[in-house]
Amino acid sequence: MFSRRTSWSVGLNRIGAAWDACRRSGRPALDLTETNPTAVGLPMPDREIRAALADDRLMRYQPTPFGHPAAREAVAAYHGGAVGWEQVILTASTSEAYALLFKLLADPDDRVLVPVPSYPLFDYLAGLEGVETVSYPFAWVEGGWFLDFGALEARIDGRTRAVVVVSPNNPTGAMLRQDEADRLLSICRDRGLALIVDEVFADHVFTATPSRLRSLAGRDEALVFVLGGLSKTCLLPQLKAAWIAASGPAEQLGQALARLEVVVDTYLSVNTPVQLALPRLLALREAIRAPLMARLRGNRAVLERALRGSAATPLPAHGGWSAVVRVPREPGEEERVLRLMTRHGLRVHPGFFFDFPTEAFLVVSLLTPEEEFGRGAALLAADADAP
Ligand SMILES: Cc1ncc(COP(=O)(O)O)c(C=O)c1O
Repeated sequence: MFSRRTSWSVGLNRIGAAWDACRRSGRPALDLTETNPTAVGLPMPDREIRAALADDRLMRYQPTPFGHPAAREAVAAYHGGAVGWEQVILTASTSEAYALLFKLLADPDDRVLVPVPSYPLFDYLAGLEGVETVSYPFAWVEGGWFLDFGALEARIDGRTRAVVVVSPNNPTGAMLRQDEADRLLSICRDRGLALIVDEVFADHVFTATPSRLRSLAGRDEALVFVLGGLSKTCLLPQLKAAWIAASGPAEQLGQALARLEVVVDTYLSVNTPVQLALPRLLALREAIRAPLMARLRGNRAVLERALRGSAATPLPAHGGWSAVVRVPREPGEEERVLRLMTRHGLRVHPGFFFDFPTEAFLVVSLLTPEEEFGRGAALLAADADAP
């Protein structure tokens, strides 16, 4: 009766079941995996956000497929004018943006290239559109995070329609270098592929480095779709607003926008209050960002201090909300994660959640409140040295 696309094996895996048991036991538990920005005690300009949403015009429905022009202008300004407002498409989330783009670019059984390790939702987002993901490494090689162009090019075939890249990447925090971005653009141009650039963490970079790319918005060597949204830029995932900034050679861009307009017109999914509020919400982003960056930087420093001299090493990152910790291979990622839970009530993610191509890595959320994060980091150091 049901589609093959939805034939997932549902239910708790071993780690999920162990965490449930840990919480039910009533013992103190420490969760270093929380990435919901509204659940970690960060200060927010609540009054201004509520005021932005209380717009008198919200009682009037004026459907516009790509969204209200003022909201699209605010997104174009957020991108420093690298794209015009008419190149901005509002969506209800970045996830929805992926779904729209896969509909635009791929037929059933076509392929999109996605980085590993990275965001674990790609298989679902593509699978729900009937599209296959093929992975390419954007992984840790001694000394840094490198995009493996050899592997990427070898995996392009006649069914490939797009390359997805995430910069800063989740969970590694790796940013594309300028020369890597240029090379990606020329591969996409030469092979007739679209480039989807997920920049949802672009505002959360620890130190700006000239060799690292800040944004691909507005580049026109190939058809480019840059994704961003309020979930990360304003820590407001509950408002459901994101965007696509499209650019590219005029003929391709024109066709893409004309087709996308019909796709979004079929759903009209972005709610009016958030569209009206978007210019004011984006204007609040610096105020929202300051305490967040203090938390991310503070927790990274705590992690580095706690792990110094232990068998665990935090891998360098340029930005983002997570930290990757390399740990001894024994007893294996899953066993170590289960052991941290049963011995210490500590929850962290194993690297395989994010498709790390090798073992052994753990992933922790830098959004965690400072005091809890410090206790968790000390436990990680002690566990790395334990037999
Ligand atoms: C890389 C990346 N892209 C997209 C998203 C989803 O964002 P949205 O809430 O806009 O769907 C996330 C959420 O964690 C993410 O990590």
